[in-house]
Amino acid sequence: MPGIVVVGTQWGDEGKGKIIDLLSDEMQVVVRFQGGNNAGHTIMCDGQTLKLHLIPSGILYPHIVPVIGNGVVINPAVLIEEMDNLGAIEIDAERLRISYNAHVILPFHENLDGLQDDSRGERSLGTTRRGIGPTYADKAARTGIRMQDMLDPEAFAGTVKEAVGEKNRLFKCFYDAEPLDAEEIASRYRGYAERLRPCLADTSILVKNALREGRNVLFEGAQGLMLDLDHGTYPFVTSSNTVAGAVCTGAGVGPRDIDEVIGVTKAYVTRVGAGPFPTEQGNETGRIMQEVGKEFGTTTGRKRRCGWFDLVILGYAVRLNTLTSLAVTKLDVLTQFSTLKVCVSYRLDGRTIEEFPQVCGDFASCEPVYEELPGWKEDISGARKLEDLPVEARDYLDFISQRAGVPIKLISVGPERQQTILLDGGEEPLSQGRLLFYDDFPL
Ligand code: GDP
Ligand code: IMO
Ligand code: MG
Repeated sequence: MPGIVVVGTQWGDEGKGKIIDLLSDEMQVVVRFQGGNNAGHTIMCDGQTLKLHLIPSGILYPHIVPVIGNGVVINPAVLIEEMDNLGAIEIDAERLRISYNAHVILPFHENLDGLQDDSRGERSLGTTRRGIGPTYADKAARTGIRMQDMLDPEAFAGTVKEAVGEKNRLFKCFYDAEPLDAEEIASRYRGYAERLRPCLADTSILVKNALREGRNVLFEGAQGLMLDLDHGTYPFVTSSNTVAGAVCTGAGVGPRDIDEVIGVTKAYVTRVGAGPFPTEQGNETGRIMQEVGKEFGTTTGRKRRCGWFDLVILGYAVRLNTLTSLAVTKLDVLTQFSTLKVCVSYRLDGRTIEEFPQVCGDFASCEPVYEELPGWKEDISGARKLEDLPVEARDYLDFISQRAGVPIKLISVGPERQQTILLDGGEEPLSQGRLLFYDDFPL
């Protein structure tokens, strides 16, 4: 089972970092394939917190080859800082392998991200302002700069001069903003290029060889389905594809290289930034979720909006990613609620709909239809086996798994590695229903 994809099934921040770190013990290669440093993946190990924005979450294991694929957009300054921070705690990040074809975020991309989002006024997307959208836009317009373009200093200086000249005209005429200095940028990026040169590689071949040799390769998704450029709540999305299919274009592998797709899903839902969110709880319930779940953006520190679990969204994630199993995180945060609501469908103009509506305005008008389940009061953060969970918690998981039609592989009850219940398929059914196990769903 060598090619395993882990993706977010909501609006990001589902706890992918924790799950990927945990699974990496049995992997040999971990690959980021899309997004950039808009991502913030948190790993907690022995009480220490590590926040990663670009480096794959498998990095803590010395046997892992961490890879940044061609589909990622790279801010070299952020990447080098992350490598240095890891070096300072004696984690070797120099073994990182970076695709020659990954696109580079330049200072004008970051400036433009902020200027564009500010100019949208009330319709602002609330981007992370890391330059992600403008960099992908340049890539699509074929005016982008790739990691390999930084290797020849003279040619690179010329390319930067041209790009900065064009962006400066835009800054001046359209945004009345300060121009940038092309020479300063080129000389700073020359230093980054020298530092990163030994890490550049044909990562598509590297990954393919690992798969061919039967090694376990984990593809680490960033963001989540609802932020997908094509399938999410456009325009309130990020600028890359976040679905499992993006592994093929973003890592340079084929569809048949993927054997398993794990969807990480929080036991409730959160969203950072603007855009529709039907089950949002702008009340005491949402406040409790935010506070107990410590729901602050890993990248920008913004408060995350919180709401009840949404099965319509999970069903959409199951379909678009062909999920083979689920990892349910932050179940511990739901402790204390006497009743848990789960959205099973939406009401729209007097109709009941069970699929994510394709017209964005419709989604914003959808009223969630809830089913209610009993909550539990016991502290579950010490649970390590299914039997340790109160029956109400098992029923809640069972409900989600049955309705989604996908087995749960892993349950997370706290941020630490050991705060995890792994289900290998051998467990007895304990709840009134039956948790679906991986073995029930042969590929
Ligand atoms: P990612 O972007 O999907 O990797 O998620 P983030 O790291 O941005 O946000 C998830 C947050 O929840 C992090 O602070 C994790 O340490 C934390 N976390 C992960 N799993 C659990 C869990 O099961 N329970 C609790 N209480 N926190 C968790
Ligand atoms: P991880 O990998 C949560 C959101 C931003 C904004 C929108 C567009 O940690 O789950 P962008 O800067 O990408 O153009 O912003 O997408 N966003 C995320 N929200 N988790 C993330 O990543 C996100 N990456 C981007 O808040 O609403
Ligand atoms: Mg995050």
